Amino acid sequence: MADRRFDFARDLQLKGDLAAAADLLLQATELAPGFASAWFTLAEIREQLGEPEAAIAAFRKAQAADPDDRHGASLRLMLLGADPLSPMPPAYVRALFDQYAPKFEAALVDDLAYRGPALLFKAVLSVRAAIRRPALFKRAIDLGCGTGLAATAFAAQVDEFTGIDLSPRMIERARATGLYAQLEVAEMVEALRGKAGASADLILAADAAVYLSDLAPLLREAKRVLVRGGLLAFTVEAHGGEDVILGEGLRYAHGTGHVRASIEAAGLALSRCEGSSARNEDNRPVPGLVVVATRTCV
Ligand SMILES: C[S@@+](CC[C@H](N)C(=O)[O-])C[C@H]1O[C@@H](n2cnc3c(N)ncnc32)[C@H](O)[C@@H]1O
Repeated sequence: MADRRFDFARDLQLKGDLAAAADLLLQATELAPGFASAWFTLAEIREQLGEPEAAIAAFRKAQAADPDDRHGASLRLMLLGADPLSPMPPAYVRALFDQYAPKFEAALVDDLAYRGPALLFKAVLSVRAAIRRPALFKRAIDLGCGTGLAATAFAAQVDEFTGIDLSPRMIERARATGLYAQLEVAEMVEALRGKAGASADLILAADAAVYLSDLAPLLREAKRVLVRGGLLAFTVEAHGGEDVILGEGLRYAHGTGHVRASIEAAGLALSRCEGSSARNEDNRPVPGLVVVATRTCV
């Protein structure tokens, strides 16, 4: 019965009858108090109805009903200013990209004019050109590899790629490219922790660090895993202030000063930090940074 009310509510929501949909969803949650999807949808509708306090209460119920938080209720609570900034739930990222995988390239490359791998490629080439060294790398790690677009861009530059991603469906797509020697379904920082010191010449994270609220653990581990002279190249979304915020697009945006300071604090040398947008949203470039850091010392 709760499922049927939920389905009816979704129909009503699509038809624009938000008040009636909210009513049915409330009935569904009375019948099944642990129905996370119903609480989450109710919260979204309450937000659309201009009832933030009621939306917050329903997002909290959704979170309690699914502690792994596949719907990302915690992110919505952050956006509503109800909770402080915290890391993105891995189960949310996995569910989002598992669902996205079949249409990922069309959605990102065609619809959002995605150019993250091309920007990283250009940046890495120019950092190497500046020190008169060839941009050729034996072992590269592609963090948040997705379907393999970064490995495709760097295919001629790298002997052996390891790809890491939280989403098994994205990893399946990456495997189909035949570009990766190893692929791991894992959280990127956790996976780096499992790598030997000085075991990679290049680490890439194209449009993947935008899912990290704190860059410090990534930078620390990248420094340990890189060989001397090795490069870490990544894109992030940026904002005019300091520190880190969660943007409307549910990705974190980092202040430029904060990124620079985090790299310095990790003991990496900043080789390049350029304002550049990796994707569009609403036909406008989303502000971003292309960053290349070098492990210069032990
Ligand atoms: C927007 S896609 C970019 C994919 C690819 N790098 C590209 O340029 O096309 C972000 C990818 O990062 C992965 N991801 C996000 N957070 C992650 C994390 N903490 N650990 C591992 N993978 C993560 C997602 O599953 C997704 O496949």
